[in-house]
Amino acid sequence: MNVLLIGSGGREHALAWKLAQSPRINTLYAAPGNPGIAAHATVADLNVSDHRAVIDFIRRQQIGLVVVGPEQPLVEGLADNIRTIGVPVFGPGREAAKLEGSKGFTKDLCARVGIPTARYFRVTSKDGALACLEDFAEGDQLRCVIKADGLAAGKGVVVAMTRAEAEDAVAALFNGGPAEAVIEEFLEGEEASLFVLSDGTSTASFGSAQDHKRVGDGDTGPNTGGMGAYSPAAVLTPELEERALGEIVRPTIDALTAAGTPYVGVLYAGLMLTADGPKLIEYNVRFGDPECQVLMARFDGDLLETLLAVAEGRLADLPAPAFSDNVALTVVMAAQGYPGTPQVGGAIGGIDAAEAGGALVFQAGTRMAGDALVAAGGRVLAVTATGGDVAAAQRRAYAAVDAIDFPTGFCRRDIGWRAIG
Ligand code: AMP
Ligand code: GLY
Repeated sequence: MNVLLIGSGGREHALAWKLAQSPRINTLYAAPGNPGIAAHATVADLNVSDHRAVIDFIRRQQIGLVVVGPEQPLVEGLADNIRTIGVPVFGPGREAAKLEGSKGFTKDLCARVGIPTARYFRVTSKDGALACLEDFAEGDQLRCVIKADGLAAGKGVVVAMTRAEAEDAVAALFNGGPAEAVIEEFLEGEEASLFVLSDGTSTASFGSAQDHKRVGDGDTGPNTGGMGAYSPAAVLTPELEERALGEIVRPTIDALTAAGTPYVGVLYAGLMLTADGPKLIEYNVRFGDPECQVLMARFDGDLLETLLAVAEGRLADLPAPAFSDNVALTVVMAAQGYPGTPQVGGAIGGIDAAEAGGALVFQAGTRMAGDALVAAGGRVLAVTATGGDVAAAQRRAYAAVDAIDFPTGFCRRDIGWRAIG
C-alpha cells in the first residue's frame, strides 16, 4: 500500500520510521517532509494547504492511507476533503478537530456532558475578563489560567499566580483588538498525557507520556512546544488511566459521535492528576511532539495496520496496541534563541555516532545546505533512547546527545527528573 504522511517535524520523522517498517508498505510519501524523514520516505513536492493539489497527488500516486501529523491541516478540514474521494484518513475532520482548535468549544463540551475540568468562563471583552478574575480570588490571593482561543502553538496560555499577572495577561490579550479567551481555575497536581486511538465507535489506549514544556532545567523559563518526554508516565497508574478513559475521553468521543462528527485519529488528553482525580487540561487532535517519538520507540505493532484500522473504522477487530515494557526518553535539542527567534543555519554533526549506541535521532527543524545538515527551526532534533527504567533511558539518551556536534544548539539536561526524583 502507498501511504502519504503529512508533516515535517520530529513527530512525523518518528511516524515515518515506524510506518516504513510495516511489511505492507509499498511507497511511503511524505509532504513536506524533512531530511530525516527522507531516509524513510519519498519526499513529495506538495503544498499541503492546497487541498486540491493534495487530492490530485493522492489519486495520481494511488494512496491507500493518509496520515496527518500536525493539527493545522486538520483544523483546516484536510481530512474531510480527502474523505470525500473515499480514501481512508488517520486524523479527525474539521468539526472534531475543534477539540484542539477552540478551547471554548472543548470547555463547553465538557460542561455539557460533565467531564471533569477546570471551572471556567469564556470572555470576549477586556471588562468582561477583568470582572471574571474576581471569581478566582481567595482572600488577597488570585490564581487563574488565561487561554487565548484558537491554535497558538503552546504560546497562548498564561498561568497567572498573582492578580497583577492576571491583569497584565488580560491587557495583553485585548491589546491587539478583539479576542476570545477562556479564563479558568488553576489546577494543582502532576501532569500526564494520555493517547487514545478512536475510529468514532471504538477506542484503544495508545500509551502515556510526560512532556517538559518549560525551556529551562527544573521546569523554569517560558513555555515551549516541549523540550523532552518519557513514556510511560508512571504517575498515570492503570487505575487513574481507567478513570481518565471512562470519565474524560470516552464521553468526549461519544458526544462527538452523537453530534454526527465522529472522532477518527488519535486523541491526546493533557491531564492534571489532582487530589480529586484526573481532570482535563486540554485536548490535542494529533500525536504530541515530542511525545510521539517516545511512543513510537516503544510501540511493538505494525503502525500501518493500526492507523489503517482506525481510518477504516475497524479498530475493534484489532488486538489492543502493545508496547515494550522499556521506558523511552527523548531529549529535544533546540536552536539557541528558542522559544524566541531561533538561530538557524548552524551545522549539525554526529548523528551516526549518536545512533551507533542504539539511540534514535529524530529530526525536526533541519534542512540540507549542500551536503551539510543544518538547523532550520526552533526544535531541531529529538534524541531518543530506551532503557529498563527512566534513569537508564535518560543515561543512554544523554550519552547520545553528547555524541552530537551542534554548537548553536542547546537542550535541557534534566528530562525525566520528576520520575527519577
Ligand atoms: P495548554 O496549552 O492548555 O496545555 O496549557 C499549557 C500548560 O499550561 C499546561 O501544560 C499546564 O502546565 C498549564 N496549564 C494549563 N491549564 C492549567 C490549569 N487549569 N491549571 C494549571 N496549569 C494549567
Ligand atoms: N508536546 C506538546 C504537544 O505536542 O502539544
